[in-house]
Amino acid sequence: MPHKLHGQSIIWSQDFDVPLLEELFELADKLKKEPENKALAGQLIISLFFEKSTRTRMSFEAAVHGLGGDRMTTEDAMQFSSFGKGEPFEEGIQVISAYGQAIILRHPEDDAAMRARDYLQSFNIWVPIINAGCGQAQHPTQSLLDLYTIRELRGRIENLTIVIVGDLKHSRVVRSLIYLLGKFPGIRIILVAPWELAIGHNMLAYMRRHGVEFLQTPKLADVIGEADVVYFTRVQKERFEDPKEYERLKNSYRLTVGLAEKMRPGAAIMHPLPRVDEIDEAVSRMPQAHWITQSNNGVPIRKALLQMVLGE
Ligand code: CP
Repeated sequence: MPHKLHGQSIIWSQDFDVPLLEELFELADKLKKEPENKALAGQLIISLFFEKSTRTRMSFEAAVHGLGGDRMTTEDAMQFSSFGKGEPFEEGIQVISAYGQAIILRHPEDDAAMRARDYLQSFNIWVPIINAGCGQAQHPTQSLLDLYTIRELRGRIENLTIVIVGDLKHSRVVRSLIYLLGKFPGIRIILVAPWELAIGHNMLAYMRRHGVEFLQTPKLADVIGEADVVYFTRVQKERFEDPKEYERLKNSYRLTVGLAEKMRPGAAIMHPLPRVDEIDEAVSRMPQAHWITQSNNGVPIRKALLQMVLGE
């Protein structure tokens, strides 16, 4: 019997409920031990990226390869495909949808994945679109691997204090993560950002609506000792209209060894990567540093997701 995600597009993180997340995490655990699983044999998956990526594109492609599927990729669609000649986005997607069984899409516009799905469906085309990070809106598969990593490191997701630090205004990763964290009981979120990079009011409204306990502060040193997980993000240069504003804010936070030593025993530091200057290199040698484990979890989680969406 096909999975309920079979043939479905993956657009927003909030579409996942807790039982589905648990099922995904258990499948990822299983796939870590089953390299011989070839659930995508005979399928061709297209990765169509309009923005730079290392982890998302390559871990998706490693997942497809690991599951016995083939992949076709455009890593800079405006340079290497006819979108750069002015081809309309939706029609290009319709053309590409004939070549494979799913399209993994990264795009600078917030609603690109949703528009791609809706356009295809308006022609009765049911090729799933998987959002691999669109604009400043969402990056659902990153938040899936983030939650999986928290569960692996802390043994649970509920009743944890998560301190999220940095450019909360522009981060699609943070938005997707909060939507998922908010589904678990006893979660406390501490949002650390200068007011210029504070998270949008819509996310505050979401947390209030769903009874998620949260706090906002610009002072990391005041709250780092309360964290079970410190989730760092970089200040996103590419999202600033005014380069001077980026220069003024880029060093808002820096995690030093001294600051990391204030964390509780067993607390973890995570980062979706890429990391720029916001964490001292010496911190990466501390036992609290877990962002490489987090990044490595991209393959089993994306394998599990692809198996649910495309497997028999
Ligand atoms: N975390 C993440 O999305 O990394 P990439 O931009 O390298 O894919």
